[in-house]
Amino acid sequence: MSDTISVLGGTGALGRALALRLARAGQPVVVGSRDAARAEATAKELTGILAEVGVEADVDGAANGEAAASGDVVLLATPWDESGQSIAALAEALAGRLVVSCINPLGFDKQGPYGLTVAEGSAAEQVAGLLPASTVTAAFHHLSAPSLANLDKDLSAEDVLVCGDDAAARTRVVALAAAVTGRPGVDVGALRQARVLEPFTAVLIAVNKRYRTRAGVLLTHVDLSRGPA
Ligand SMILES: NC(=O)c1ccc[n+]([C@@H]2O[C@H](COP(=O)([O-])OP(=O)(O)OC[C@H]3O[C@@H](n4cnc5c(N)ncnc54)[C@H](OP(=O)(O)O)[C@@H]3O)[C@@H](O)[C@H]2O)c1
Repeated sequence: MSDTISVLGGTGALGRALALRLARAGQPVVVGSRDAARAEATAKELTGILAEVGVEADVDGAANGEAAASGDVVLLATPWDESGQSIAALAEALAGRLVVSCINPLGFDKQGPYGLTVAEGSAAEQVAGLLPASTVTAAFHHLSAPSLANLDKDLSAEDVLVCGDDAAARTRVVALAAAVTGRPGVDVGALRQARVLEPFTAVLIAVNKRYRTRAGVLLTHVDLSRGPA
């Protein structure tokens, strides 16, 4: 049976688009929100969009706590919160789950986007500290929500870079990336690589503005069919 994927912040731009793509790929999905009614409305909306393209999707909506407890894999598609309060509050519900942080701590000023300083090194490492009973990975930082939301857009030439301290968990997320983009993710190693992945998104956003595009990441000379050694 397929893993159930819960998406916290599933009503937002990234979460909703990831939920849409995962449901299209046949994964059971639970959209999470701080407001159960908002989550249910988004789930209904995504089900409708997929029905229009002939996909009978399995998408439910629930308050974040219930969504967290229902997922085999739980994606964090919420804004970075220096205090970590909202994630810490879910520690019990997320115990034993594979958590994937998609969080990019970014700031914007007159010079454009930049990576914020995170005391723990990265948002992903902060999450790992807040969720000692969960297995924490990080991925999907560089996909653009509008591109994901456009189901006609081919994302199979974009790499999803996956990091985490548990090799088996990274392998699961590498496979999950294929359900989102059509291309397996790239295992980039330890969770601390998130210190590079998260702020790199500021570079993509700066490029997007200058070239009026939605830039993505593609590593050259990596044979994904062989998998990591
Ligand atoms: N947008 C992108 O293209 C993109 C790409 C890669 C990564 N990301 C990262 O993904 C995360 C979400 O980005 P987004 O653009 O989707 O943001 P967004 O549109 O603002 O959505 C975030 C969702 O998180 C929930 N939320 C807001 N404040 C919260 C809080 N204090 N605690 C818990 N939940 C909260 C909200 O849902 P409810 O109000 O329903 O709870 C909201 O719909 C960010 O960390 C961002 O850096 C975004």
